[in-house]
Amino acid sequence: MNSFGVRFSITTFGESHGSAIGCIVDGVPAGLLIDESYIQSEVDRRRPGLTKFATQRKESDTVQILSGVFEGVSTGAPIALVIYNENQKSSDYESIKSLFRPAHADFTYFKKYNIRDYRGGGRSSARETAARVAGAAIAKKLLETFGIKVQSGIFAIGGIEAQNIDFEYAKTSEIFALDRLKEEAQKEAIREAQKDKDSIGGCAYVKILNAPIGLGEPLYEKLDALLGGALMGINGVKAVEIGEGINASKLRGSQNNDQMDKTGFLSNHSGGILGGISTGEDITLKIHFKPTPSIFLNQSTQDTNAEPINFTLKGRHDPCIAIRGSIVAEAMAALVIADTLLLNASATVENLKKIYGNN
Ligand SMILES: Cc1cc2nc3c(=O)[nH]c(=O)nc-3n(C[C@H](O)[C@H](O)[C@H](O)COP(=O)(O)O)c2cc1C
Repeated sequence: MNSFGVRFSITTFGESHGSAIGCIVDGVPAGLLIDESYIQSEVDRRRPGLTKFATQRKESDTVQILSGVFEGVSTGAPIALVIYNENQKSSDYESIKSLFRPAHADFTYFKKYNIRDYRGGGRSSARETAARVAGAAIAKKLLETFGIKVQSGIFAIGGIEAQNIDFEYAKTSEIFALDRLKEEAQKEAIREAQKDKDSIGGCAYVKILNAPIGLGEPLYEKLDALLGGALMGINGVKAVEIGEGINASKLRGSQNNDQMDKTGFLSNHSGGILGGISTGEDITLKIHFKPTPSIFLNQSTQDTNAEPINFTLKGRHDPCIAIRGSIVAEAMAALVIADTLLLNASATVENLKKIYGNN
């Protein structure tokens, strides 16, 4: 499956070292202002090669709109976005042509499809996530129309956790750090891993503001299930927490319950979701990324003939995928909210009457 979403959907195409990657965005209501420079600025946030804390693959990641937009607004037709690949170095991958990189998708893709696109990981490469971010920029524009905002940043690197959350600061930080007081220690943990020819794990934090009450489709398309599935679907994500998350399993009900008075909720342990439906409070998510599989130490693995082999990888890789991954997490969360927002518009007769009147 290369498509995501029901009412507002994306379909991505392309491989890491193919000619292009791209995204078809379907279900965009007509009349939405589509600002090409905004889509570009969103894609630029996850662009490789910008700092020494990201892979040194240099790509301009220039987005072109091919269809679905006329005179700056969506027409209701599918919007096709394309990004041409510019800086493929397939020779970097010659040496791993017939072996499986530990913790990457090489083994499972080969066993499932019996084809080895060794050039940068082919379709399993996180390069595909640039196409998702481009499509999600349109979702974010739609959400903005209704005052809904999705923000992200880095909560933890190698277990060094933020104490304060500052999304504005994260925008200015090379590693999107949410806590300026923890940023240097987090950077140092990445530098240490790089010095050791290794990589390091991290945790991104996403907050959705002003989501209306009612998003999410019980029982099998609950908002928490949709967000969990969308975020777990990002390369390298190993766990997702909503609100109090795993900590809730250590609490008593009296500590975890969000009590109410006539103004609303007095706390937000639920992370803005109850019974699979948004409560109108902030939706808070933690997304845990594993360390980058591609490291530069000698490792043991198998080749495609199941023979054991030792190898040392060459090439350009992110030392910590959580950093650029946080932008992808923000994008996937925006796609889920846009989709559920459109689905919810027909949830009640009352809603439909607002569109079609009473007769
Ligand atoms: C933004 C982003 C950048 C990534 N960069 C790299 C990379 O440079 N090298 C690498 O080996 N894996 C990288 N990954 C992770 C792999 O794509 C991922 O681990 C692999 O596809 C296997 O999937 P899994 O970890 O979900 O099982 C990146 C992931 C993301 C989200």
